[in-house]
This record gives sequence, C-alpha cells and structure tokens, in this order.
Amino acid sequence: MTERTFSILKPDATERNLTGKINAVIEDAGLRIVAQRRIRMTEAQAKTFYEVHKERPFYGELVGQMTSAPVVVQVLEGENAVAKYREIMGATNPEQAAEGTIRKLFAKNVGENSVHGSDSQDNAKLEIAQFFTEDQIVG
Ligand code: CMP
Repeated sequence: MTERTFSILKPDATERNLTGKINAVIEDAGLRIVAQRRIRMTEAQAKTFYEVHKERPFYGELVGQMTSAPVVVQVLEGENAVAKYREIMGATNPEQAAEGTIRKLFAKNVGENSVHGSDSQDNAKLEIAQFFTEDQIVG
C-alpha cells in the first residue's frame, strides 16, 4: 500500500553536508521525496516533536541537538513507506545498525544519529502535520 512517512535529516547530517548522500539512499530504496524543506527548528518545535520522550534522561540533550543547526524535514512516499524507511535508517544506535543502512553509514552515535523516521502511520500523520500543509506535498 502506498503511504507516507515523515523524515528529518538531523543537524549532525546537515553540518557534514550529507543531505545529498542520504537522499540518494532514500531514493535508491524506492521512496519518493514528495516534500522537503530546510529549517532551523525552534526549541518549541523540538519540544513538541519529542514530547513522548520528555521523561527520558536524554530529552534536554535531544532538544539541544535538534536546535543546534539546520535540519531538513521531509515527507517520503512509497510502498509501506513507514516500515521501509525504518529498515533503511537502521537501528537507533549506529553500533547496532545493519550494514548499508543510513545510520551505519553516517551516524556518529545514538544521539547524533543523522535521521529520524516515523514509527507508525498514525505518528507519521501527526508529524507531517506539524511541519507541512497538504498543498506543500506533491506526490
Ligand atoms: P529518533 O528516531 O529521532 O527518536 C528519538 C531520538 O532520541 C533518537 O532518534 C535519538 O536521536 C535520541 N536517543 C534515543 N536514545 C538515546 C540515548 N540513549 N541517548 C541519547 N539520545 C538518544
């Protein structure tokens, strides 16, 4: 089934000029980038986005990192896009990520792990709506 997922190329990736290389992995996997914008995430946006993690010890560090440099927010579309993107991102911790995955190739550590991808279709809808209006998504 064709569906959409939400992606962020994180500050550690944009700082190292990895936008194109990561987009190549995404496109080579058959996912289409149907919306994309480079933004400086505000503290309020980062706090809202990661609200589910607010009790975690790394929450402050996470919000700090996400606002430290520009990010690229994206909508990806394709067959089983949520699961497909999680597969090509690899495990959250790059030490546990499979060969060839984005995090294995590019991530620095569990915090600076280069990319975010939605973990469910429901969350994908909520996350996309936080950053894009429907008319900005061109499938
Ligand atoms: P992401 O997929 O964006 O969702 C939550 C983020 O929290 C995760 O990627 C990591 O960047 C970060 N994270 C998860 N676990 C840890 C951890 N143990 N230490 C620091 N950051 C973490």
